[in-house]
Amino acid sequence: MKTLLKNCNINNKTQYLLIENDIISYIGNNIPDADKEIDINNLIVIPGVIDPHTHIRDLKQSDKEDWTSASNAALRGGTTMVFDMPNTRPPTINLEYLNLKREKAKAAKVNYMFNIAATADNLQDVIEILETKPSDVAALKLFLAGSNSNEYVDDIEVIKKVFDISLKYDLPVIVHTELQKCVEEYSAKIKNPTVKDHNFMRNRECSVKGTELLIELATEIGNKLYLAHTSTAEEIDIIKANKDKCNVYCETSPHHLLINEDILETAGNLGKVNPPLRTKRDNERIMKGINEGTVDTIGTDHAPHQLSEKLKPYNEAPSGFPGLETSLPLLLNEVNKGSFTLEKLVELTSLNSSEIFKVKNRGRIEEGFFADLTVIDLNKPWKIEAENFNTKAKYSPYEGITGKGDVVMTFVNGKLKYD
Ligand code: DOR
Ligand code: ZN
Repeated sequence: MKTLLKNCNINNKTQYLLIENDIISYIGNNIPDADKEIDINNLIVIPGVIDPHTHIRDLKQSDKEDWTSASNAALRGGTTMVFDMPNTRPPTINLEYLNLKREKAKAAKVNYMFNIAATADNLQDVIEILETKPSDVAALKLFLAGSNSNEYVDDIEVIKKVFDISLKYDLPVIVHTELQKCVEEYSAKIKNPTVKDHNFMRNRECSVKGTELLIELATEIGNKLYLAHTSTAEEIDIIKANKDKCNVYCETSPHHLLINEDILETAGNLGKVNPPLRTKRDNERIMKGINEGTVDTIGTDHAPHQLSEKLKPYNEAPSGFPGLETSLPLLLNEVNKGSFTLEKLVELTSLNSSEIFKVKNRGRIEEGFFADLTVIDLNKPWKIEAENFNTKAKYSPYEGITGKGDVVMTFVNGKLKYD
């Protein structure tokens, strides 16, 4: 089966792109024969988004999200590959639970890989999984603090053991950097907290100290350290100062880049997330970190919960909100505003993730690569209306926000899955 995409704007040139089965077999000016043609009308084609930070849920939390609803959300957001996070029910902590997840993931309409949780008690199980040389495992995931109800690690010796495994099996460790003890100390200072205290209670110091510790250990051990959802200016400074000294990679999320605690005035607990939304100063430093090359990736941290749960009082409301459908439109709007170039966006949303996590033959538009493609229209206006989301989590702290630049089509393995 040969599909020809006519009039694609790739790297500012009008080109023809031929897909044979699921692979890009030709890019150029000639018009090859094909079984089927699709006119892209000179719209821009970028590599499909690879999201290294997606909470798909399913299993015992399919009320919040399942592989079908998450896939539909991903496709709407131009995302062709997701890395599923392990803090599920049951958690991805051993081969048995990974296999349960593998069964569920057969419903996926996008490509996927799994992140495996490392805790104080399961390192033998992690090794057992890695000894099978799984091609569907992207990374290990370590939480240094509780966030909703995951298990966390607060013992330096355990962190070191995880880093040793990461080095031996050449697999990155993705870390949620907030330190549990620090979060507990700051949280104890507030008597009747509301969401406006969230940024104080899960204090910036807790993320910063965690990042310092992790960089120190990774410098000693030499493994690949991937810092998830970097939220503070100080962390960007620290990462920048250490990029040459250790194997550290920096992810931020759209919400730590583009919004801050001011939005809680209208969003309330819908904007409750860990690490918390910080300040305008942090947004600005993270943006600078993107343009100076300190930030490597943007992960959505798509973390769906039921609206009814999010509307509970602050202490009971879970942290996290959906991001798969809002991420790329928000970032394209930033390209239109001149915050960064489209080339930089592609680095942040696909190219760098494919390289850091060694995703074979994806993340670029090149002959021989899988045809995971997102067609965008930089002039297409949008308004965020969560009731129209594909995710089961139909709410958003961005509700009502407008912008320009949206997804028009998403191809996964050469097949048009969204238009
Ligand atoms: O806000 C968050 N939600 N942060 C996390 O680290 C976990 C996530 C979730 O799973 O809901
Ligand atoms: Zn997360």
